[in-house]
Amino acid sequence: MNFTSASNPAIQHNRRAFIKSASAAVAGGAALAALPIERFAHAAGSDTLKAAIVGCGGRGTGAVNQNLNVHKGTKLVAMADISRERMDLSFNTLKKQHPDQVDVSMGNQFLGFDAYKEAIALADLVFVTTPQGFHPYHFAEAVRQGKHVFMEKPLAVDAPGVRTVLAASEEAKKKNLKVGVGLQRHHQVAYQEIVKRIHDGAIGDITSLSCYWRGNARAGLERLPGEGELQYQLRNWYYFTWISGDFIVDQHIHNLDIMNWVKRGHPVRAQGMGGRQVRNSNKLHGQIFDHFFVEYEYEDGCKLYSQCRQGQAGTHTVVSEHAVGTKGAADLGLRNATHFRITGQNPWESRLKKGEDGHQLEHYPLIAAIRENKPYNEVEPAAMSTMTAILGRMAVYSGKLVEWDDAFNSKLQLMPSKVSWDMEPPVKPDADGNYPVAVPGKTVAL
Ligand SMILES: NC(=O)c1ccc[n+]([C@@H]2O[C@H](COP(=O)([O-])OP(=O)(O)OC[C@H]3O[C@@H](n4cnc5c(N)ncnc54)[C@H](O)[C@@H]3O)[C@@H](O)[C@H]2O)c1
Repeated sequence: MNFTSASNPAIQHNRRAFIKSASAAVAGGAALAALPIERFAHAAGSDTLKAAIVGCGGRGTGAVNQNLNVHKGTKLVAMADISRERMDLSFNTLKKQHPDQVDVSMGNQFLGFDAYKEAIALADLVFVTTPQGFHPYHFAEAVRQGKHVFMEKPLAVDAPGVRTVLAASEEAKKKNLKVGVGLQRHHQVAYQEIVKRIHDGAIGDITSLSCYWRGNARAGLERLPGEGELQYQLRNWYYFTWISGDFIVDQHIHNLDIMNWVKRGHPVRAQGMGGRQVRNSNKLHGQIFDHFFVEYEYEDGCKLYSQCRQGQAGTHTVVSEHAVGTKGAADLGLRNATHFRITGQNPWESRLKKGEDGHQLEHYPLIAAIRENKPYNEVEPAAMSTMTAILGRMAVYSGKLVEWDDAFNSKLQLMPSKVSWDMEPPVKPDADGNYPVAVPGKTVAL
């Protein structure tokens, strides 16, 4: 399956384009009102776009805030979470930031694993910002109910989840729904410029790629007194592969996604190694690894050397992406994603502009597309990048050379189709409190 971010209309927008089109949208209010109601339901007789958040944590609250900055006509009307405390915190934060755009009565604050269905029903636009194991189910339901979506990355933790997301995305296109995905680097002008230059031939034919995410991570959480096993795992979700996909999927996806964008495709096979050498407390760190090295291969034989490491204090830190070609080399996202350069026959350099915040910029084209009723769907490249990260995890956990097709068609489902408080969690600690950890050569990972 081939895709190109550059040809994805969703990815071509930037803030300037939005400002231009938003003014046109305001000026053209009468024209908007004339659109068929089923194609532009929220605008029928009103400028209000009703939003709901599913998963009211740090990023979800941030994404709603950034989205509400874009257009005064967007109102948060419903919230869903499994934690009262997290929902209260999110509500209070957003109410302070946007007092006139946050109107969520107690009756529209839904708690529990089925809460998403009720919140989705009240909205035109849904923020799917739960941990990624849930994304396929929450996204599919939002599409089933005919809602526009902003969904955080990664899109799933396993291959069945990726396939669910892709199927729901096709359904979304048929229903004329707009879907944005939180891979914010696509909305940074410097990234757009350098990738375009690479695609236009500035470094010639790409011969090798490398990318890194070596840095800190969110802290592991200890169990609270009396806390149940499932409650604990969901609160400390990052450290459980069935909910987060491991950190290669959660975080390194950002770099792998850039490499796929540069290469206009996805790898066809992968092999690598990894483990948990330092970040390995059974009280804090569940079951995920603390380092991965994956050698990916694209269809034309080009190799991508990918490294990610977290939680090993005192080690070298770097987050960046690199491409070497027959006419030069490109370095992307140097110095904390602020510096971009091409060396060789066509030298070029750019710095991140002030205010160029991908987390903010990604909401302009989504809202513009909804309000102007233009096609917008960022799912497919994001699903391929999610699958690329899952492929790397499969290769490292199993210690095998794994082909893309085998990985993509894998039936191994880590996230159960239904999660409820009375179920047994998919993984449990042994008598010493140790969770199952992948052992290369023994673990069945796909
Ligand atoms: N694009 C980025 O740079 C970026 C940055 C951080 C996080 N993220 C992504 O955002 C998502 C959320 O991460 P976060 O940092 O906000 O985590 P978080 O732990 O702060 O928030 C997750 C929230 O979801 C709730 N939740 C968990 N399961 C739920 C369920 N089944 N139904 C409803 N609510 C549920 C939790 O109670 C919590 O409030 C993840 O997918 C993460 O990878 C993206």
